[in-house]
Amino acid sequence: MPSVPSSIDSVHPVSSVCPHAAMLHNNATKANGDAAILNGGSKVNGEAMENLGLFNMNGLAQVNGEEGENDLENTVTGTEERQWIRPDLPSRCTWKLGMSSAESPHCHSAKTEAPRILPNILRRIGDTPLVRMNKIPKAFGLKCELLAKCEFFNAGGSVKDRISLRMVEDAERAGILKPGDTIIEPTSGNTGTHWNVTKCNLILCSQVDVLRALGAEIVRTPTAARFDSPESHVGVAWRLKNEIPNSHILDQYRNASNPLAHYDTTAEEILEQCDGKVDMLVAGAGTGGTITGIARKLKERCPNIKIVGVDPEGSILAEPEELNMTDKTQYEVEGIGYDFIPTVLDRSVIDKWYKSNDEESFAMSRMLIREEGLLCGGSSGTAMAAAVKMSTELKEGQRCVVILPDSIRNYMSKFLSDNWMCDKGFLTPNDLMVSKSWWWNLTLQSLNLCAPITVLPSVNIKKTIKILKEKAFDQAPVVDESGMILGMLTLGNMLSSVLAGKVKASDPVSKVLYKQFKQVRLTDNLGKLSRILETDHFALVVHDQIQFMADGSSCLRQMVFGVVTSIDLLNYITTRERRGSARERTMSECSMTSECSLTDEL
Ligand SMILES: Cc1ncc(COP(=O)(O)O)c(C=O)c1O
Repeated sequence: MPSVPSSIDSVHPVSSVCPHAAMLHNNATKANGDAAILNGGSKVNGEAMENLGLFNMNGLAQVNGEEGENDLENTVTGTEERQWIRPDLPSRCTWKLGMSSAESPHCHSAKTEAPRILPNILRRIGDTPLVRMNKIPKAFGLKCELLAKCEFFNAGGSVKDRISLRMVEDAERAGILKPGDTIIEPTSGNTGTHWNVTKCNLILCSQVDVLRALGAEIVRTPTAARFDSPESHVGVAWRLKNEIPNSHILDQYRNASNPLAHYDTTAEEILEQCDGKVDMLVAGAGTGGTITGIARKLKERCPNIKIVGVDPEGSILAEPEELNMTDKTQYEVEGIGYDFIPTVLDRSVIDKWYKSNDEESFAMSRMLIREEGLLCGGSSGTAMAAAVKMSTELKEGQRCVVILPDSIRNYMSKFLSDNWMCDKGFLTPNDLMVSKSWWWNLTLQSLNLCAPITVLPSVNIKKTIKILKEKAFDQAPVVDESGMILGMLTLGNMLSSVLAGKVKASDPVSKVLYKQFKQVRLTDNLGKLSRILETDHFALVVHDQIQFMADGSSCLRQMVFGVVTSIDLLNYITTRERRGSARERTMSECSMTSECSLTDEL
């Protein structure tokens, strides 16, 4: 039974006391209801990032004027003037522990019974299962009960469904968002997915493709841009908002509807599922909306509860400040951490912060999948890894609830893949092999690779295709006059580029180079190579040279030693195995003959 009612079901005591949501409520009009979202379909410009690094999580921006137009900043960047609202302005929220609900300026929604046939997919948001962990607490020797709130059971597959629905409903109710308007969404995926679910479409796999399939236009932004730079996802969203008429940024960083969604639904569900008895809550923080909303409600109802916030090393959300000291500037877990403090994150309700790292996060996500059967994402592992450490202080009969924000769907080619884990250094090939094949630890030197054909970047495509065909090669490295590697070319890529009209046969091969290929060294073992060749057709064998200049300075240069394919590896293994079994046969034939001659003699 979804606990998030549609706009029509909601109970809306309207007041204009809270400056946080003043404009929404002062302008409140008759709710447009689900149909308005579903049929009117706010056009979505869901933006997806290739790889956001610190910004690799879901983001929204803001319904125009939600916090008041006064917050608009004009910044001159180069020759352009930029209009935007910072996502880290101090909060003006009026919530205080002990404050009566009558004093709340917000709309609070009451839980309603879901019909057997859901009117639309929005009714599958909320009411997510709370699941008892069995093997994990045992493995870590915990005395307390460990419970996982599985947010990936929401219709769009993540905890963000809740706030997306709530922000749209509140904005519609306030008359800000109207059918046909454009929502601009700076995100790496989860929140964007939800916008499209609100258009009653399907939920699919890889993030950008999911958004595109659901009808969103995608605008990519650079991954490493600082949050306050015009190139960041927030910066680009604001530029688009200023250009597109009737467009809105709902701003999950500042929108009161973000923590409110969790205050009204997630926390209420936890209390109901636990009969009001919770001793610890552990959750990661991105915008901080989830942990803030849940913590506020739980603190009101379970005064002795301990709230643990989880923040990855490299992010700055944790307190005290010293916890954030690190050399790390990057982490792989997605959805948590920032390099600014979002307005909606109320750090006063967090009793303790835990700084997490990638290794323990992914190891725990894999454990959650393997041992508990929960198909969750990486940040679920982060929260659970923190929970098993922090809940050692709980006694038998006490209860710790952990928020698992999203599912494995967005990470199929990431931490689920052994290769990815090895590439990132979270696993070694040795961790993966239960019993290693005889060739696993031999180095690439054993393969006796022949000298590669290399091509200069100026050679034309037609000539290169001819050479490769004559020499029966499918690919070749492209190097400059000094032997430096510029990239790889493959027959397949050249042919398809010519056939698609992207290049002419007379163009130089520099136009069809590609740079995403795996490299190995002669000292790497065949086990590592075999892992690479599970997904790649070849690997470039490189070796480093130290080159000295006339002035005595030196630099490290990478030179091509060869190209290795699965055929090279297979040939090597099968030839040795054939020779080995031929030798065994001869030996056993020999011993048979000598046995026979012995018997003959007897
Ligand atoms: C993937 C993912 N999405 C969303 C969230 C919740 O973040 P927020 O703090 O923005 O509510 C988290 C937090 O762990 C997360 O991991």
